[in-house]
Amino acid sequence: MAAADRARWLREELERYNHAYYVCDQSIVPDAEYDALFLELRELETENPELCTPDSPTLRVGGAPLAEFQTVHHRVPMLSIRTETDTTVSGAEAFDARIRRELGLTAEDAPVEYVAELKFDGLAVSLRYEHGLLVQAATRGDGERGEDVTRNVRTIRQIPLRLQGDAPPVLEVRGEAYMSRPDFEKFNQRQRALGKPALVNPRNGAAGSIRQLDPALCARRPLSFFAYGLGEVAGWSLPATHGEVLDALAACGFPVCQHRIIAHGAQELAAFHQAMGGMRDSLPFDIDGVVYKVNTIALQQQLGFVTREPRWAVAHKYPAEEMLTTVEAIEVQVGRTGAITPVARLVPVFVGGVTVTNATLHNFDELERKDVRPGDTVIVRRAGDVIPEVVSVVPERRPMRDGNAPLHPRVAMPASCPECGSAIEKPEGEAIARCTGGLYCPAQRKQALLHFASRRAMDIEGLGDRIVDQLVEGGHVRTPADLYHLGLDQVAGLDRMAAKSAQNLLDAIARSRDATLPRFIFALGIRNVGEATAKDLARQCGTLDILMTASEEQLQQIPDVGPVVAASIVHFFAQPHNREVIAALRAAGVTWPEGVVAGNTVSALAGKTFVLTGTLPSLGRDEARDLIESRGGKVAGSVSGKTHYVVAGAEAGSKLEKARALGIPVIDEAQLMELLKQ
Ligand code: IVH
Repeated sequence: MAAADRARWLREELERYNHAYYVCDQSIVPDAEYDALFLELRELETENPELCTPDSPTLRVGGAPLAEFQTVHHRVPMLSIRTETDTTVSGAEAFDARIRRELGLTAEDAPVEYVAELKFDGLAVSLRYEHGLLVQAATRGDGERGEDVTRNVRTIRQIPLRLQGDAPPVLEVRGEAYMSRPDFEKFNQRQRALGKPALVNPRNGAAGSIRQLDPALCARRPLSFFAYGLGEVAGWSLPATHGEVLDALAACGFPVCQHRIIAHGAQELAAFHQAMGGMRDSLPFDIDGVVYKVNTIALQQQLGFVTREPRWAVAHKYPAEEMLTTVEAIEVQVGRTGAITPVARLVPVFVGGVTVTNATLHNFDELERKDVRPGDTVIVRRAGDVIPEVVSVVPERRPMRDGNAPLHPRVAMPASCPECGSAIEKPEGEAIARCTGGLYCPAQRKQALLHFASRRAMDIEGLGDRIVDQLVEGGHVRTPADLYHLGLDQVAGLDRMAAKSAQNLLDAIARSRDATLPRFIFALGIRNVGEATAKDLARQCGTLDILMTASEEQLQQIPDVGPVVAASIVHFFAQPHNREVIAALRAAGVTWPEGVVAGNTVSALAGKTFVLTGTLPSLGRDEARDLIESRGGKVAGSVSGKTHYVVAGAEAGSKLEKARALGIPVIDEAQLMELLKQ
C-alpha cells in the first residue's frame, strides 16, 4: 500500500476507535493495538510531512506553545440566552406566555412545540468544518470576535476532526466544552498528589484548559463536549426543527446530550425543569439550569432577536450551588466516631436552595491546603443534600494588617478534644484526626454505647438506637459502666417501654457482666481494633492489665498488629477517662476469665512502673522490688498517671484508693508472680 493510502487508513481507523471510545463509551480495540497504530501513523507523518492532514489524530496531543491567540471573527454571531430569573415552575410559564403572545396565539391555539435541553456549565466554543474537516475552533469572546483555540480543541477526543457522512462546504457547530465531574476529581487528586494547585470547579477547569497557550497542557486536562446548535452553514440541508438539527449533529459524530425532550407547552417544560433538577446532582457533569428553545426553525426566524439574545430561547436556572460569603470563625466539631472536623461559621448565605450558616472544611489537611482564616471571603458550595463545604478562599479579599501580613493566623488542630479534653490522635498518612476518649467523650457517647452493647461485643439484647438515645438524652447513662447501675423505674419510665421489656433489658444487661476477654476488648471500641484483632490481643496478652500496660513496641510483636493499631491501643489506654470507665465497669461486676499468656511475645514488666502498698502475704518489700527490677520493671513510691500497676497487700491504704480513682490496674501477690513468670 502506498504511504498516503496507509496514512489515510490509519487516520480513519484511529478516529473510528476514538469516536467509539470517547463518544459511545465502547472500547473496540485493545489499548496496545491503538497505541501501535498511532505510533505507526506518527512515524509515517514524520517521514512524510505532507501526509499530515488537519484531521490527523496525532494533532490531538497538542504541540508547541503559542505566544498569543489569534482573533476569530464569527461570521454568525455567538449569541447569549436570556435568563429566566424565576427558578420555580412559573419561569417556564412566563416564557411560554411570552412566545405565544409574540406569535399572536390565543388560548384556543395548540401548545407551542419546544426542545428542552440541559444548560451545561462549561465554555461555549464554535467549531468550523470545511468540507468535513475541522479547520478552526473559537471561543465566544464578545459574541462577534473570539479567540482561535483550534489546537487546544483538537485535543478534546470527543470532538470529531472529520465529520461523519456528507461533508458540506461549511458547517459551524456550537456547543459546550466541559470537564466531567469524575475527570475533575481525578485531575485534582493527581494535582494534589504532585503538590500542585487544584482546580476550583469543573467550569474553571474547562475554561482554563481551553484558554491555555500551551496546547500540550490542555491535552493533559480531560475535557468533554456537547453540541447544541449551529453557526454558519453552507451547502447543508438544514432540518426544519431544532430537534432534528441535534439528531443530525449526533449523526455527524458529535456527542449530543441524551437528556433532551420535545415538550408541548409550559406544563411539559416545567416538568422537565423539575425532573432534571432532581437528577442534577447525579449527572456526571455540572449544569446550572435547563434551556428551552422553540423547536420549529421557521418560527425561530419569525421571532428573531433583541440585542444579543434570541427571543425563541430562554435559560431556566436552578438555584446557584456556589456563593460568596464571609467566615466568622473556624470551630471544631467532634463526630459520633470521634472524628475531629474543622467547620467554618459563616455569615448566612442562600445557596443550593437553603440558607447556610456552617460549612465543613473536612479535615485539618484540607484546612491547611485551602488556608481558610476568620474574616476570609470564601466560595461556599451546597449541591443537593450534600453538606455545604468551603470550596476556596478569595485571596484578594483577605483582611490584612499594616505591613501586608494577614490579620488572622492559621487555625491549627487542637491538641485535645473540645468536648472531653482527651488527646487527639492523627495517625501518619491519615487525613482524619480523632478524639481518643471513646468511652467517655460526650460526642461519642451514643455510638460507644451502641457498639458496647452490640451482638459481637457485650451482646446486650434490646439496647438499640431508640433506647440509647433516650438513656443518654435523659441523663441516665453517660458511659457504658452506668448501664450496670440502671434501675427498673428508670428503664420503665422510657418512652413506649412496657414493664416486661424493661425487666428484660435489665436482665440482658446483668447477663452481660459475664463477659469474655476478647468480647470486652472489642466492646471498648478502640479505634482500629475489630473483632479479630480483639481476639488476637486477648490470646497474646492473656489479661486486660497486660494489654492496658503494653507499649507500642510490645504490641507490634503480636501478629497482625502494626504501628497504626498499636498506637491506637496505647492512645486509648493512656486516656485517664477511658481507664476510669474500665475501672467502673470492673467495679460494677463485669468480669471475664483471664488466661495465661500463650506464646511469649509480650514481656509484661519491661519499662513498667509498679507501686507497692500494704503487706504482701509472702514477699517482703525489698524482695518484691528486687524481683520486679530484675525483670526490667521500676518501683516508685507514689501513685500517679505514670504508674502501670499497684501491687496491693493487706491493709493497703490511700495508694490503693488513688489507684482505683485513676483506673490503674491493681494486682495482688499471686498476680505479680504470674507477671514475673512471663
Ligand atoms: S444555545 C441562541 N444551548 O449558555 C442560543 N447554550 O448564554 C445560543 N449553554 O455560554 C446558545 N448549554 O455556552 C445553548 N443547551 C444549550 C446550552 C447553552 C449551555 C451556554 C452557552 C453560553 C450560554 C448562553
